[in-house]
Amino acid sequence: MRTRVGIVGAGPAGLLLSLLLAEHGIDSVIVETRSRAAIEETIRAGVLEHGTVETLRQYGVGDRALAEGARHDGIELRFGGQGHRIDFANLVGRSVWLYPQHDVLKDLIAARLAAGADIRFECGDVALRDVTSDRPVIAFTEADGTAVELECDVVAGCDGSAGISRHTIPDAARTDYFRTYPFGWFGVLVEAPPSAPELIYAHSERGFALVSTRTPTVQRLYFQCDPDEDAAAWSDDRIWAELQARVAGDGFSLAEGPIFQRGVIPMRSYVCEPMRYGRLFLAGDAAHTVPPTGAKGLNLAVADVLVLARALDSYYATGSTALLDSYSDVASRRVWRAQHFSWWMTSMLHTDPAGSAFDVRRQLGELESVTGSTAGSTYLAEAYTGWPVEF
Ligand code: FAD
Ligand code: DHB
Repeated sequence: MRTRVGIVGAGPAGLLLSLLLAEHGIDSVIVETRSRAAIEETIRAGVLEHGTVETLRQYGVGDRALAEGARHDGIELRFGGQGHRIDFANLVGRSVWLYPQHDVLKDLIAARLAAGADIRFECGDVALRDVTSDRPVIAFTEADGTAVELECDVVAGCDGSAGISRHTIPDAARTDYFRTYPFGWFGVLVEAPPSAPELIYAHSERGFALVSTRTPTVQRLYFQCDPDEDAAAWSDDRIWAELQARVAGDGFSLAEGPIFQRGVIPMRSYVCEPMRYGRLFLAGDAAHTVPPTGAKGLNLAVADVLVLARALDSYYATGSTALLDSYSDVASRRVWRAQHFSWWMTSMLHTDPAGSAFDVRRQLGELESVTGSTAGSTYLAEAYTGWPVEF
């Protein structure tokens, strides 16, 4: 088989890339290990930056996000038992949208299949070959066992943090920047009405908690936990008691209800540089991971793909490799800004198990500075709602 751009992975990065390429008349094939149903059911991120929603709308896949998602004009930072609003709309004139990642994926998959896109789900033994030649190959086995060799002009490695693409880059040709955190997030989905009109990022001496939302009847809540915590070992009562204790103060409490989904999410920061090797280009989590506190993961994948799609369009339209050659440098500038923001939000709001009373007081001083100053709040609002994409 042959295609122009072979895409490994049907996550947000891979699906959006195939959509943008199709807009420019560039054909692609997506090779994905999971089933469509598994992709459409996996619960992940929930916050879409202003620019991400604008991109979805511009390319005809934003209708449901705009109709069923919720626009949020600010967030609350909660510390010392009191809430402090960061007013995005007033500070930077932008907002974010609450719309779940799996719904973004449903919309993208439906749109791509309706347009006749070639997406191979449930593939096995995916491997990349000859990526430094001008005819790189994605080798894989189809769901029915047929072995396929897909010859491409370019391969886009969009296969997430556990994918194979970046491991195709020899150790000597890449640098891995890596940091783990001594905590994870215990995430639950609950049947309950919203407890607050906007997201709450709560600092407490028992650790961080995040109050998010999905629909008028389903809420998404997280709290900092041990990275090896066994989610199944917690009773619903214990989960509610922990969450309530972390957001308490000012007469506030969470609306409770049945917990129907739970899990522990690890926290790490990772960047692979360069994001390119020969004719292999990495995008999204395949090249970088951020801790979820800044809600940047999905949005960074979208920004990478906008830059990569423009570079590929320029290559096919003019034959010039200039934008492909600068892709890694251009994309990684935003990646490092988002790495800093995600690390900063994490370190300001989470309790370090090895930390001291000094660290807690320092965090409170920092939160006072951020919420008590227009300059401090504006940085948070700019970063959270998303910087403009630079090409
Ligand atoms: P992915 O969404 O990971 O997509 C990669 C795709 O490649 C997957 O469909 C995978 O099945 C496929 N694949 C993997 N290996 C292969 C292979 N060898 N061959 C072919 N296909 C392959 N971000 C936030 O902002 N907030 C959150 O709350 C949040 N929660 C998260 C929870 C979890 C459990 C995880 C894992 C991530 C979370 N993220 C969150 C991060 C966010 O979901 C990611 O940043 C986003 O999904 C990145 O999109 P992507 O397309 O780059 O990668
Ligand atoms: C959600 C996830 C995040 O990482 C975040 O910062 C805010 C909200 C969510 O899943 O709703």
